[in-house]
Amino acid sequence: MATTLITGGTVVSATGRSLADVLVDGETIRAVLEPGSRLLGTDLKQSVDTVVDATGKYVIPGGIDAHTHMQMPFGGTEASDTFETGTRAAAWGGTTTIIDFAIQKYGERVEDGLAAWHEKAAGNCAVDYGFHQIIGDVNDESLKAMRGLLDEGVSSFKLFMAYPGVFYSDDAQVLKAMQVSADTGLMTMMHAENGPAIDVLAQQLLAQGKTDPYFHGIARAWQMEEEATHRSIMLANLTGAPLYVVHVSAKQAVAQIATARDGGQNVFGETCPQYLYLSLEDQLGAKGDQWGEFEGAKWVCSTPLRSKHEHHSDELWTALRTNDIQMVSTDHCPFCMKDQKELGLGDFSKIPNGIGSVEHRMDLLFQGVVDGHLTPERWVEITATTPARMFGLYGKKGVIQPGADADIVVYDPKGHTSIGLEKTHHMNMDYSAWEGYEIDGHVDTVMSRGRVIVDADAYLGTAGDGAYVKRGLSQYLL
Ligand code: URP
Ligand code: ZN
Ligand code: ZN
Repeated sequence: MATTLITGGTVVSATGRSLADVLVDGETIRAVLEPGSRLLGTDLKQSVDTVVDATGKYVIPGGIDAHTHMQMPFGGTEASDTFETGTRAAAWGGTTTIIDFAIQKYGERVEDGLAAWHEKAAGNCAVDYGFHQIIGDVNDESLKAMRGLLDEGVSSFKLFMAYPGVFYSDDAQVLKAMQVSADTGLMTMMHAENGPAIDVLAQQLLAQGKTDPYFHGIARAWQMEEEATHRSIMLANLTGAPLYVVHVSAKQAVAQIATARDGGQNVFGETCPQYLYLSLEDQLGAKGDQWGEFEGAKWVCSTPLRSKHEHHSDELWTALRTNDIQMVSTDHCPFCMKDQKELGLGDFSKIPNGIGSVEHRMDLLFQGVVDGHLTPERWVEITATTPARMFGLYGKKGVIQPGADADIVVYDPKGHTSIGLEKTHHMNMDYSAWEGYEIDGHVDTVMSRGRVIVDADAYLGTAGDGAYVKRGLSQYLL
């Protein structure tokens, strides 16, 4: 088995940082040592197969993006990243594990939906991957099938209070699924928006001729998110289900989650880079490309971007620091403008929902360190360690310690990354939602289970390097 010594760097964990050398043996970490340590009398630098010089750099656990949608059929098309292109882009950005959402469509068996996702991913991924299960049809059969998910390494399922006629569950269905969650310990993940009310507002706006992408965010008002977040918290309270609210964008939803947590409830919240950096006003076609007013479609996602005048992103940064929100995933769901987003020309409700960010999460959040929102330790915690603990991967993933998988990123805090389609873009999209962002940091080296897959701006991996990881129950449950 090949051995590697990562030497001279500062190992950053969720709880601290120290100068240390990391010895990798095969696929796992063998030791974390005092800098320059000898092992059994040998100079390690001489005896290992490879030395990675991390002097002046951070050595961190590989990022875990717990919310992606590769090849997801949605909005009359399919998310443009395959498991191959999307996981390769993830690797470029220092993410070494994704958790994607397998889908049980309406009328389909849960087992068949999960099997279909295994088929899409197997042999194609650049980094390791796990699955959550979307339950798109809560019925007696699927409620029974959910009880078998943990044996498959799937310890969480997602329900939608939005998208009537697609993935939507009504309150009775949510209640029944949460009862299974309480019984089994499977984490309930909730898309918390009041879908039926949103659909009425959207139709009313369209009838008034308000068809531009901007009105997507007007129809999906923050009240729709706060109300559904509150309702899901109440149903979780009643049933005892652990609840993880995905893609939180409204400060009022953050407050609901914080109140529930203060009351002792197992409620967790995730936000995404788009809600930390972008705003509804960005969708007004302000950047001025060939799409004119329709350019705002680039940032159509749900929950939507919020108005900068209401300071949601300030509250989200604060919530990340104070742990009212526990982690950041991307909700990576990319669509090209050509042929995909343009399905919604003249009708915002037909724009496929989603933004592509899997490649940039680690950098965008590091910028949060540079800008004074987070410590380096908190950066590691919200991007790697908490996702591992939340979704049953900790010990193997999310930490640099003996026995853990050698998923390691050497990150240069003095480096620089220019984000843009012509610059650092490996996602399968014809635009970047992050065009022009400049990051004061750089992913130098990425190791996935002991193998260097990105180094000095070169991709060294191959499709199929990534393996399926079975997950256990969340560590945060009593
Ligand atoms: O806009 C989004 N979020 N698209 C992906 C589907 C979802 O609701 O997560
Ligand atoms: Zn969602
Ligand atoms: Zn999503």
